[in-house]
Amino acid sequence: KGKSKEQWVCSDCGHSDGQWWGSCRACNSVGTVKKFTEVESDGGKGSGFEVSNNVVKSWLPTLSGEVVPMRLTDVNRGINQLNWRIPLSGLFGSEVARVLGGGLVPGCLVLVGGDPGVGKSTLLLQIAAIIAEGRDFGAPTPVVYVSGEESVEQIGNRADRLRIGTEELFLYSSTDIEDILGKIFLLSPRVLIVDSIQTVYLKGVTGSPGGIFQVKECTSALLRFAKKTNIPVLLAGHVTKSGDIAGPRVLEHIVDVVLYMEGEKHSSHRLLRSVKNRFGSTDELGVFEMSQSGLQAVSNPSEMFLGEQQPDSDVLAGLAVAAIMDGSRTFLIEIQALCIPGSSILRQVNGVPASRADMIISVLKKQAGLKLQDNGIFLNVVSGVTLTETAGDLAIAAAICSSFLEFPIPNSVAFIGEIGLGGELRPVSRMEKRLNTVVKLGYKKCIVPKSTEKSLAAIGTEGTVILGCRNLKEMINTLN
Ligand code: TYD
Ligand code: MG
Repeated sequence: KGKSKEQWVCSDCGHSDGQWWGSCRACNSVGTVKKFTEVESDGGKGSGFEVSNNVVKSWLPTLSGEVVPMRLTDVNRGINQLNWRIPLSGLFGSEVARVLGGGLVPGCLVLVGGDPGVGKSTLLLQIAAIIAEGRDFGAPTPVVYVSGEESVEQIGNRADRLRIGTEELFLYSSTDIEDILGKIFLLSPRVLIVDSIQTVYLKGVTGSPGGIFQVKECTSALLRFAKKTNIPVLLAGHVTKSGDIAGPRVLEHIVDVVLYMEGEKHSSHRLLRSVKNRFGSTDELGVFEMSQSGLQAVSNPSEMFLGEQQPDSDVLAGLAVAAIMDGSRTFLIEIQALCIPGSSILRQVNGVPASRADMIISVLKKQAGLKLQDNGIFLNVVSGVTLTETAGDLAIAAAICSSFLEFPIPNSVAFIGEIGLGGELRPVSRMEKRLNTVVKLGYKKCIVPKSTEKSLAAIGTEGTVILGCRNLKEMINTLN
């Protein structure tokens, strides 16, 4: 009979421990550590299989000769011969390539995580097609798309819808990792796609597909496969709202690259974000639109989060535009505020961290003398975007002032800046880049912290007037 081994795994960061502690020892989260029991196989005799041994050894190419330390220059020569990075240009412009840090590196394991239905399978199938068609480097090359979720007919239907018809795309429906790797090895494809990690299993490993041990072992097996064959592997992984323990969190440590696909239910926009990348920078963002025929790159997304533009005479009070950054990109987003006199208990905030909103409101009361105490205040960031940086502070304050004073801000004005506790305006990172977007989109005025006014004016801003303000009072006076 096999021994059982207990493990405590943190559902937040994936850290596992042989012992229970009150909180996770890696990320200090409390109440996130859950117990898992692993039954060890009896010395490999019963099942003829050992988890800890290289499971996928049998059909992996054995390296010729012994592996010894290699000269850096020899390694790099080898890399150049390997056609370093599949550029992934073509259908998506450079959206996917940029998020990956310049294309797919041979032998890398990439996880594409996201909520069910967000479009992971669609994206992976489209990537498969681009590579199979050889739009990157001339000659078409085989790509295998393995699905444990859909039959080959279903994938075929989807491919039809996406107008994919290449000879070099191979579809396979299977959930057995050994079977999958064995079959695809014969094809020696340019790229392997596995959809999804939650549906595949490895014989001899405890638990059902999607369970923590299966997910971990299958991913490790795919990683070894990728490293030994230099075939890049793209994995789809579902993230559940509850932060499921077997979800991609646990995998983040194993794989080379983690991309998350995000999108709002009511919007057709999809964001692809890199949160881990061993071969490039993180914080990169790709923007796509889900259409009738699959995902399409949005090459100029700056305006995507703005509400509908109206003539200045129709503009309502309580709206202000902020220039925020996400990855290396600038976006202009609209912030809405509504102050209702006589209902001071009401406070509803969407898309702005509650503590930040509280601070800005308090500073407006104390340092700008706004009598907000008898007002209910609603704040909303258009399109369900969540602000993660302080560069939107000034626009939030401006929107609240505008609603409170019932003074509409012309929609040709944009705001950039952080607010300090003294009501002072502070510069934020990459002011120039933000201002460039504001200028490019034809805004007439941009309100910035006074200290940045001179250097920004020096970069030449065509039709946009840059107005520097020291504090919130000055900002309010500038608008009036
Ligand atoms: P899918 O890729 O199956 O999501 P995931 O693999 O992340 O679960 O995407 C499913 C959704 O995308 C589904 O609601 C239909 C929509 N969709 C389109 O709008 N256009 C298309 O061309 C395709 C293929 C899907
Ligand atoms: Mg899917």
